[in-house]
Amino acid sequence: MAMLVLALLPLFATSASAAGGCAAEASLSSPNGNAYAACSDLPRLGATVHWTYDRAAGSLSVAFVAAPAAPGGWVAWGLNPFGEGMAGAQALLAAPSSSSGAWAVRTYNISGYALGAPGPIAFPATGLAAELGADGRVRVSGTLSVGQGASVLNQVWQVGPTVSGDGIPAPHAMGGDNLAAKAKLDLVRQTSTSSDSGGSDLARERNIHGILNAVSWGLLLPMGAIFARYLKTFRSADPAWFYLHVTCQIIGYGVGVAGWATGINLGNASNGVTYGLHRSIGIAVFALATLQVFALFLRPRKDHKCRLYWNAYHHAVGYAVIILGIMNIFKGMAILGVEQRWRTAYVAAVWVLGAVAVTLEAVTWSVVIRRREAEQHGKTLHGAA
Ligand SMILES: *[C@@H]1O[C@H](CO)[C@@H](O)[C@H](O)[C@H]1NC(C)=O
Repeated sequence: MAMLVLALLPLFATSASAAGGCAAEASLSSPNGNAYAACSDLPRLGATVHWTYDRAAGSLSVAFVAAPAAPGGWVAWGLNPFGEGMAGAQALLAAPSSSSGAWAVRTYNISGYALGAPGPIAFPATGLAAELGADGRVRVSGTLSVGQGASVLNQVWQVGPTVSGDGIPAPHAMGGDNLAAKAKLDLVRQTSTSSDSGGSDLARERNIHGILNAVSWGLLLPMGAIFARYLKTFRSADPAWFYLHVTCQIIGYGVGVAGWATGINLGNASNGVTYGLHRSIGIAVFALATLQVFALFLRPRKDHKCRLYWNAYHHAVGYAVIILGIMNIFKGMAILGVEQRWRTAYVAAVWVLGAVAVTLEAVTWSVVIRRREAEQHGKTLHGAA
């Protein structure tokens, strides 16, 4: 049931397209006369964003198009370098002047859930302009210095019904669409068709990073753990489980190290944008997994008194690697805003692994209990004889 809901989500996300949008505004060009390199129909409030990212100059030329909530209202768009949502957004807000009716754009450094006063923002903005189109939609354009090596940014947008006094916007509605107006702006994927060749290399490397990590930390290592935990119960599988386990983990570790290296490289390529927690978890997973490999050589013999401690250590670190690895894959998918179908596919794979583990856990316990009973029975018979 949960899977069905997950699978249907993207349908709802794309059903919000309104009049206008990327297809209708394909001819929209930036102030210097060039067409924008990329466009995306935003999932809420019928808004659209067009942009060109100049990777070398670190400048983002952007046009945001949306209709105010009512004629004479305002529209706003911003980037949030501090998180998702309104607090922390560096926003461009376009509103008509109450006296002349001319549209003007102001920048807002929004620190909480109140707009505050206009002022300088973290991304110096130039060429700000706004105009009202014949279709009632307002087009806000400008260029922001977002820095070189930007990849995925958080964007927020909003529309409001009224402007009071000297271009001061009245609060927007608090309905679901207004509160959910946030999305990722992916400067890597969506500039790969333009002259930005650096962007397409990064896009390829990012896909490789995701696939290697999902396959290794996300699938092979948990599978290897399942082999070890459950095959061991069957005496007939005795040395076989060990070789299966070691093979799975060594292949998983090898592929994982390759994925980890692409991650370090991607992190170095994106100056100024670091994904702190994702990076830290990635480094921790790599360090713990490396420790596991080396600890194999220090494994005491089966009958050694320290073997018990070694086993406890090996299991604890192994489970930590698996849990942190899977968490970090979800974290990475959230950072990149990957398409829902990839998320759904990975969630399904984790569910299958989880279901297999739970089933085998039950089988293992019943085998162990039956074996104990048989042994007990054997002892009693022996004692009576
Ligand atoms: C934006 O506001 C925050 C918090 O009030 C402040 O620390 C920051 O320096 C401001 N940024 C700019 C560019 O003025």
